[in-house]
Amino acid sequence: MYQVVRNTKYDYAGQSYASLYPNLHKYPATMLPQIGIDVLTEFNVSKGKLLDPYCGSGSSFASGLEYGLSEMYGFDINPLAVLISKVKFTRVSVDELIKTRQIFRNNVFELLKNEDDTKKLKCPQITNIDFWFSKEVVTSLTVIKHFIDEIQNENIRNFFLIPFSETVRECSYTRNNEFKLFRMKSEALLNFNPDAIGVYFKKLEETLLLYTKFYFPKLENSVKINVQYSKFQPQDDFFDVVLTSPPYGDSRTTVAYGQFSTLSNEWLGISYARKIDGMLMGGTRPQRNISKGVIADFISHIQQVDNKRALDVSAFYNDLDTSIKKVASSVKKGGKSIYVVGNRTVKNVQLPTDQFIAEKFEENGFQHVITYERALSNKSMPCKNSPTNEAGKRVNTMLFEYIVVCEKIS
Ligand SMILES: C[S@@+](CC[C@H](N)C(=O)[O-])C[C@H]1O[C@@H](n2cnc3c(N)ncnc32)[C@H](O)[C@@H]1O
Repeated sequence: MYQVVRNTKYDYAGQSYASLYPNLHKYPATMLPQIGIDVLTEFNVSKGKLLDPYCGSGSSFASGLEYGLSEMYGFDINPLAVLISKVKFTRVSVDELIKTRQIFRNNVFELLKNEDDTKKLKCPQITNIDFWFSKEVVTSLTVIKHFIDEIQNENIRNFFLIPFSETVRECSYTRNNEFKLFRMKSEALLNFNPDAIGVYFKKLEETLLLYTKFYFPKLENSVKINVQYSKFQPQDDFFDVVLTSPPYGDSRTTVAYGQFSTLSNEWLGISYARKIDGMLMGGTRPQRNISKGVIADFISHIQQVDNKRALDVSAFYNDLDTSIKKVASSVKKGGKSIYVVGNRTVKNVQLPTDQFIAEKFEENGFQHVITYERALSNKSMPCKNSPTNEAGKRVNTMLFEYIVVCEKIS
């Protein structure tokens, strides 16, 4: 058993993500940047290259920046996540953003004056578009997207896509309080008539204000944050610290990052938007269950009641294992890995993901330093779900998170 210490310092009761780096775009299961800042401080990781192999909306970069790191690398295979991280952590001239907004606004309103002109624009390929959007919203989104695509500078174009993606979500018939893609109830649809153009410009204004106030001042020219849309690409002995919060389990039965992002990704032109959950960790079921190491007994318990669920769980840990091998080889000797994870429950079996991570790092040239247990009260994700996958049956699956710290020794 790798040592776990309850550490209330890391609870941050009452604090939110927004208190440090307000989000420019919603994203599920974001990590509190405060965790990263305090853990980098405690283990004195004040220089070198930081890696986040599952960067999502980029909270580990916020932590790194706040603690003075200036070279960071992130990977994620959800295009929406990469877009959010890039926009938050790319330096773009605020004057240029304001100038572009003026031209963009004039173009949009000029075109809207003539209905026939709006009909000439081609709408992107969206699955079941009429099921998810009203005709008026489709027209407005098509006009906005048309003029965003005309912006030449990639960084500015990406910036304008952030409020666009938020508008897609907010003006669709999705239930906005769910991560999964569920349509609103029919009674709610009757009164739902959003003004997508108005929503977009309001969100563009808010994004600009938040970026200008909270992000731009931190993004000095020396800051280099490189975010890639891909699985982690290993580089031998390259990184000084890994700071990440990986998924807790496969996307189908835990947090559905792909479903949350589907409509946005489709409007952004991602043709395989509906396949993303299957591409994320644990997306492909293996032939056999894991039979070695700290996780084996737990999986065997699940297997006794439901072999398919056990195979899904094995799929996730197989992928995590493969990923840790690659990450471990990419860290320099003396470097640290910091994983913030939850131990989810499946079929009433609580899976010790924290122990699994420590074990895998130890198998790959690291020594476990400490695992801190923190009370989970701030994460923007449901801490209840149905471990049996039976509708309506909800039990607490996670009340704590674990901060697993290891150091590379060979
Ligand atoms: C817990 S979230 C990370 C949240 C992030 N710390 C934040 O604050 O936004 C986990 C992320 O892992 C990504 N992911 C899942 N499987 C992946 C894989 N095989 N390679 C890269 N990213 C993956 C998901 O798309 C998701 O964005």
